[in-house]
Amino acid sequence: MFFESHASLQAFNTFGIAARAVALLRVADVVGLQAALRHPLVSGFTPLLLGGGSNIVLTGDVKVPVIRIEIKGMQLVEETAKAWIVEMGAGESWHDCVRWTLDQGIPGLENLALIPGTVGAAPVQNIGAYGVELQDRFESLTAMDLHTGRSFELDAAQCAFGYRDSIFKHVATAPGDFGLAGRAVITHVRLRLPKPWKPVLGYLDLERKCQESGVVRPDARQIFEWVCDIRRAKLPDPRQIGNAGSFFKNPTVSADQCADIIAREPNIVHYQLADGRIKLAAGWLIDACGWKGKTIGRAGVYEKQALVLVNRGGVEDPVTGGEVMTLARAIQTSVYERFGIRLEPEPVVI
Ligand code: EPU
Repeated sequence: MFFESHASLQAFNTFGIAARAVALLRVADVVGLQAALRHPLVSGFTPLLLGGGSNIVLTGDVKVPVIRIEIKGMQLVEETAKAWIVEMGAGESWHDCVRWTLDQGIPGLENLALIPGTVGAAPVQNIGAYGVELQDRFESLTAMDLHTGRSFELDAAQCAFGYRDSIFKHVATAPGDFGLAGRAVITHVRLRLPKPWKPVLGYLDLERKCQESGVVRPDARQIFEWVCDIRRAKLPDPRQIGNAGSFFKNPTVSADQCADIIAREPNIVHYQLADGRIKLAAGWLIDACGWKGKTIGRAGVYEKQALVLVNRGGVEDPVTGGEVMTLARAIQTSVYERFGIRLEPEPVVI
């Protein structure tokens, strides 16, 4: 375990916000994590758990101890006639794992290429892209109780996955309540990659790639390359421009509400959901309000994708979490005034 007091978190959040932590503990294995939880500066507090820092906005210095999970390891733990089961340490980079599985000849994660962040963060917000969500490839995970230091396993049903949601995002306020936020930390994740492999190509951007290239039956490696190309073309690389991916969730509305909006805005991008409700593209709503490319202070709206807020100050003069939230609130207000829809931020605001 590595310990530092009054530590800079700038390199540990993809926005590049220059907040500090009263104490930073970096753990590389389960024993180190147990030791960190017993550390005098940690016990008695609910620590802030950090993976790749790709889904947080730090609005000030962090007064509680920060534990950064750096548990590594990737292995094939089981292969049956129906699936490969792989296990990853929570501190592995998600994208490295996607690439590693393909290098082992194991397809199934290709649509989830280039998503920033770590393996441990993937189930927390049930990451998803191009027609696949983590829950579609999930087997189980191991987590550690932050109070007792004991490990336990959860299957998919116990994780209560939803759209960018899981049990790890909910706080239990009374005994027996649903919610593991602040109570547990993920240490290992197991994924089930089904046989035979079936490509997922229903997403518009991927259909377009098939048509443009003339490749009718792409293999997993080809889809991986396409997803990387698509993402690179419209999402900023956090190593070059600080950001936290999509800043707002795509809102869902009732069919009635949507009919009303479509009558006023015939071009609105919307998708029919299985339950009859309708999902709207938050990026389109923000774009329609004229926000693309706009800047407030050092916080900006990315030129190529209005759903992504970026750090325009770089490393030298970085954006503050306050500036990011001021911009986010201004966007929420204008989308609400024009469409009557409340946008909900996707990252965790600390
Ligand atoms: N659009 C605009 N203007 C914009 C941005 C988008 O008109 O500035 C329109 C697009 O033309 C498109 C629609 O909005 O018709 C949706 O945009 P896109 O296909 O880029 O996907 P998204 O809804 O913005 C979601 C996920 C992404 C994921 C992609 C691909 C959420 C909040 N975001 O984005 O996930 O990569 O689909 O599956 O669900 C993330 O969660 O951080 C993330 C990047």
